[in-house]
Amino acid sequence: MSRFAFEGRVALVTGASRGIGEATAKELARRGARVALTARSEPDLARVAGAIRRAGGTAAPFPLDLERAAAEGAGGRSVRGLFRAVEAEVGAPSVLVNNAGFGLYGDLESLSESDLRRAFELNVIAPHALARAVLPAMREQGGGVIVNVSSVLGRQAIPLAGGYCASKFALEGLSQSLRAEVGDAGVHVLVARPGRTDSSFRQSAMGGSWRPPEGVPAMRPEAVARGIADAVESAAPAVDFTLAGRALMTLGRLSPKLTDRAMRAFYRRSRDR
Ligand SMILES: NC(=O)c1ccc[n+]([C@@H]2O[C@H](COP(=O)([O-])OP(=O)(O)OC[C@H]3O[C@@H](n4cnc5c(N)ncnc54)[C@H](OP(=O)(O)O)[C@@H]3O)[C@@H](O)[C@H]2O)c1
Repeated sequence: MSRFAFEGRVALVTGASRGIGEATAKELARRGARVALTARSEPDLARVAGAIRRAGGTAAPFPLDLERAAAEGAGGRSVRGLFRAVEAEVGAPSVLVNNAGFGLYGDLESLSESDLRRAFELNVIAPHALARAVLPAMREQGGGVIVNVSSVLGRQAIPLAGGYCASKFALEGLSQSLRAEVGDAGVHVLVARPGRTDSSFRQSAMGGSWRPPEGVPAMRPEAVARGIADAVESAAPAVDFTLAGRALMTLGRLSPKLTDRAMRAFYRRSRDR
């Protein structure tokens, strides 16, 4: 099977104003894609687009609140408007990177339904709406790529992050079904599962002041971006990044009770500290 080439493709990257999304947009542009950048912050999108252009690439910013857009759905004004603008200015996307997302911490007993809904709007409903919106163009082009940025916590849940874990588990299920549904149309669905990554993710998270312990070393967003781009090129169904993440997912599968006990002890200690 021939490798996917980014050269000349249009890639739409969500959450491209900073962190993993910014690094991914820059990496795809470096590999020859023309990138459409979306997030809420206009100044940050302009900064990222400027940096890509100065490096010789093609990039354009498309500011949008995806939480709001998700509530309107794939046929809503915001999503339709985004696709029309991207198509007119950059071209029809054949790569969609659903990266925008936020964390949600706190125990499930205290978690409000409205916070849980917000996490699902951005982490699940928005990727679904964008995938629905982009698929007709991908089918017309004879294929494409949809990358859904999940997490190690989309495969192994931890205490005190149940709302976030639930949203990423949902994204995993959605991705798995989508992969089977659109594979015949030449659309490749990739799930990326970063572990802890050095970004503003922890500061931006909702749901109280508790944060997971710093113990695990953080990856650089640029390393995650390279891993995503490599996995797209090799048509991998999923990309896991760290040994610690893989070990946690394996332990959770092989011995759920032991994993629960270890997690309970580890996270309770960190919260009571
Ligand atoms: N960092 C980690 O440790 C880690 C680990 C595993 C998985 N992940 C996943 O990786 C992805 C990227 O996270 P990150 O670490 O790069 O976090 P980040 O630095 O906080 O970046 C989040 C991005 O999402 C955008 N965003 C947030 N709310 C939005 C909204 N309502 N509408 C549109 N865009 C919105 C932000 O831009 P604006 O604020 O400008 O809108 C920003 O560009 C997320 O899906 C996250 O769950 C992160």
